Amino acid sequence: MRMVDLIQKKRDGLELTDEEIHFIIDGYTKDIIPDYQMSAWMMAVCFQGLNKRETASLTLEMMHSGDIIDLSAIQGIKVDKHSTGGVGDKTSLVLGPIVAACGVPVAKMSGRGLGHTGGTLDKLESIPGLNIMISEEAFVKQVNDCQLAIIGQSAHLDPADKKMYALRDVTGTVSCIPLIASSIMSKKLAAGSDAILLDVKYGDGAFMKTIEDAKVLARTMIEIGESLGKDTRATISNMSQPLGNAIGNSLEVKEAIETLNGNGPQDLLELCLQAGSHMLVQAKKTDSELTARQMLEEAITSKKALHVLCAMVKAQGGDDEYIKHPGMFQKAKEVIAIRAEHDGYVKQLEALSLGLVSMKLGGGRQTTNDKIDHSVGLVLNKKIGDFVKRDDVLVYVHTNTGLSEELKNEILGAYHFTSDFVTKPILIDEILS
Ligand code: URA
Repeated sequence: MRMVDLIQKKRDGLELTDEEIHFIIDGYTKDIIPDYQMSAWMMAVCFQGLNKRETASLTLEMMHSGDIIDLSAIQGIKVDKHSTGGVGDKTSLVLGPIVAACGVPVAKMSGRGLGHTGGTLDKLESIPGLNIMISEEAFVKQVNDCQLAIIGQSAHLDPADKKMYALRDVTGTVSCIPLIASSIMSKKLAAGSDAILLDVKYGDGAFMKTIEDAKVLARTMIEIGESLGKDTRATISNMSQPLGNAIGNSLEVKEAIETLNGNGPQDLLELCLQAGSHMLVQAKKTDSELTARQMLEEAITSKKALHVLCAMVKAQGGDDEYIKHPGMFQKAKEVIAIRAEHDGYVKQLEALSLGLVSMKLGGGRQTTNDKIDHSVGLVLNKKIGDFVKRDDVLVYVHTNTGLSEELKNEILGAYHFTSDFVTKPILIDEILS
């Protein structure tokens, strides 16, 4: 077989066999197929697509390119959760503890942020001492002991995806549904859970810009999961504005702690309760989503979920006093208020622009080697549907490097106003299973 023939075959819109897909992924993982041929093939996939069988075959090949995590020593049905990424998305830090507090083991491997989207690992590392790289053995033991572990992906998990993702990032081939679906699902399947809850986001701050594309992506991933016998469901959620109010690492951890204390923003809480209800049903804790929701609410009011987070932080070497007393988190040198220049209702809030401002303040990486400043970011005081009077504070900027006129204008430019009443956007459009 020759790679050039397979590139031409896909370029011409023909279907590839399982053997041909194996040849591509195996050859690329072993450095036999060079980057330039792989990027040409992935670009052909962007234009011609892959059918259901090809997408499932690609996912399986990627999944088997490295280690498969064995979670069989963990008692109970393990449910994993994955978000396709967005601005202010600290869902895992709330959802993990509330679901674990209801007796469902959560063994989660998370990622780092790149560009305007934050990553759970970077957020967790704002807790002093917390170690996200622990052995598979310690991971399994921790989940058995305290029901929750959130760690970094092992270097040997899905090496095909690591190489392909890095190449896609620099060849304009990220936004391609079969490539995104196989990238996400190959990692989730290799990570060994019994069931998967996907949070597929759409809108300005997400990879999928429209709800239609988000649904196609969700359906594609559900079909892959179901074809391997895993109960897979997806929330389709709106990322036309940031989730919650905080953007930036320790600011988001603090907001997650507030939510576990019963004082979090409504949109974040609602997403966690809806997604969590499905996770409890998937784990067979109950067959009613309503009962599941009540169990999750009780995990918050009783502070059980907060205790689970403390136990996880301690088990991973972190200082759990920070969870009990969030005022201990290192603060940025300055907090600058950005005030409205007009009266009106907020009708649009560009999540992407605000995510980029937080990154430029040092809260995210422009390149993979950049060091993160955990204390900086934004706290939104006004969101879509809020009425604003001239001089009201829109955003508090937490910064260690002042605020340039350019960044200030980017924040102001992210807000769009109207004099007409604006209803708050619906957060979850649908749950697919
Ligand atoms: N997240 C992933 O893990 N892979 C993609 O391709 C896109 C988002």
